[in-house]
Amino acid sequence: MTGTTKPLSISVIGCGYLGTVHAVAMAALGHDVVGIDIDADRISLLAAGQAPFFEPGLPERLEAGLGSGRLRFSTDIADAATADLHFVCVGTPQAADGDAADLTAIFAATEALLPHLRAGSVIAGKSTVPVGTAARIAERLEPTGATLVWNPEFLREGRAVADSLSPDRIVIGVAGGGTEPGDRAPGAAIGPAANGATEAAVGMLRSAYARMLELGTPLVVTDLATAELVKGAANAYLATRISFMNAMADVAERAGADISGLAEALGHDERIGPHYLRAGIGFGGGCLPKDIRAFAARATELGAASPAALLATVDSINLGQRSGLVAAIAAHFGGDVAGRRIAVLGAAFKPESDDIRDSPAIDIALELHRRGAVVTLTDPAALPNVASRYPELSLTHGLADTLRDAECVVVATEWPEYREIDPAVAAELVAERTVFDGRNCLDRASWSAAGWLYRGIGRR
Ligand code: UDX
Repeated sequence: MTGTTKPLSISVIGCGYLGTVHAVAMAALGHDVVGIDIDADRISLLAAGQAPFFEPGLPERLEAGLGSGRLRFSTDIADAATADLHFVCVGTPQAADGDAADLTAIFAATEALLPHLRAGSVIAGKSTVPVGTAARIAERLEPTGATLVWNPEFLREGRAVADSLSPDRIVIGVAGGGTEPGDRAPGAAIGPAANGATEAAVGMLRSAYARMLELGTPLVVTDLATAELVKGAANAYLATRISFMNAMADVAERAGADISGLAEALGHDERIGPHYLRAGIGFGGGCLPKDIRAFAARATELGAASPAALLATVDSINLGQRSGLVAAIAAHFGGDVAGRRIAVLGAAFKPESDDIRDSPAIDIALELHRRGAVVTLTDPAALPNVASRYPELSLTHGLADTLRDAECVVVATEWPEYREIDPAVAAELVAERTVFDGRNCLDRASWSAAGWLYRGIGRR
């Protein structure tokens, strides 16, 4: 810690993806942290220094945190009682019966925390929630004298540790928080309706993030509803951007143009920027798909019809990328993939992750399998997860074994080891030199030069 801040006593409720990384990051910043989860197996793993999922940099940080004595894990919510600041990081999955978010865990976690709160305690909600959730939680907390702030988290899987320690911005929503431009500067007043407890709560968050603020990380202090919306809107925008590029890819392909060149040229426009413009088989994972559905469901509840219509289109373009690739592969085989040997490279929804939740790669492999293709699937990190959830899929560990005798190769996740495949070496292993590059990540010229029929998304 720097001289200007003192370590805080922190609890992190919910040690899933978000909570585990946040707990580890808070300990790395010098705070005393207890991570709490009702999943005893997960807590045993974490307490033994084993990261329960693949995330670059996490095992090292976890070990360092445990070794420092500043990080521990527990299944007992009573262990949160000594903390001054409680981060709520539990999951908000898609409800089983619709598009809305299932808020069971977040309400259960805050209820469980209630007896352990005191006047001056601060609860910082980090989970992604529909706007209006924080106000409901704040009401429940009122008798305890504790203060709720909303502090959304924007970390990306695969870069979660770095994103947690060096975020693009910190957002703190408070009851009565102001949204005037002057409120955005670190140290600025919070807003006319804020009281002393709110000021103190924001001060505590500022202490928690002191090191980042000293490095100039932008801070936005706002009201609870705006803070909740920031996260939903960020995910909705990112998803829209990807589906927009996939829609452009469709036009480019039909027009004989090239989406990669288009994306490069668009990205030079300062108003657009170069990131998140990659066309392909679309977005997946545990966040974007369910978050845009929950956002749309909440917008509809609030009477806003157009966001729901917009995001329904974004969702349908995205899912269409998966079925579109399967259709293209089927067309390549004259409409029928039954009996065809197809190698699928990648199962995770993105590289540097073992997460297969709503993974486009898995959907494509499953659909090819359902249609009777002989699919062999590989992935550098996600195979244990695939094996436990989809025993019907045939998995291979080495790249050579996956490619051998394939009549068609599909790149479904842009892991570096797939981007770097030597097409001439791969050509010797396969039965037919046909590659469907679902992530537009291969060098088309060198694959074509090695005799491959190359098919990208939105590429000539
Ligand atoms: C996302 C948000 O980025 C993050 O801020 C939020 O906190 C959680 O949701 P994450 O799910 O880790 O993070 O993945 P992200 O890197 O955003 O990628 C999401 C999906 O979009 C992946 O399947 C990725 O392959 C795909 N994608 C991303 C594209 O298809 N094209 C792109 O240009 C970028």
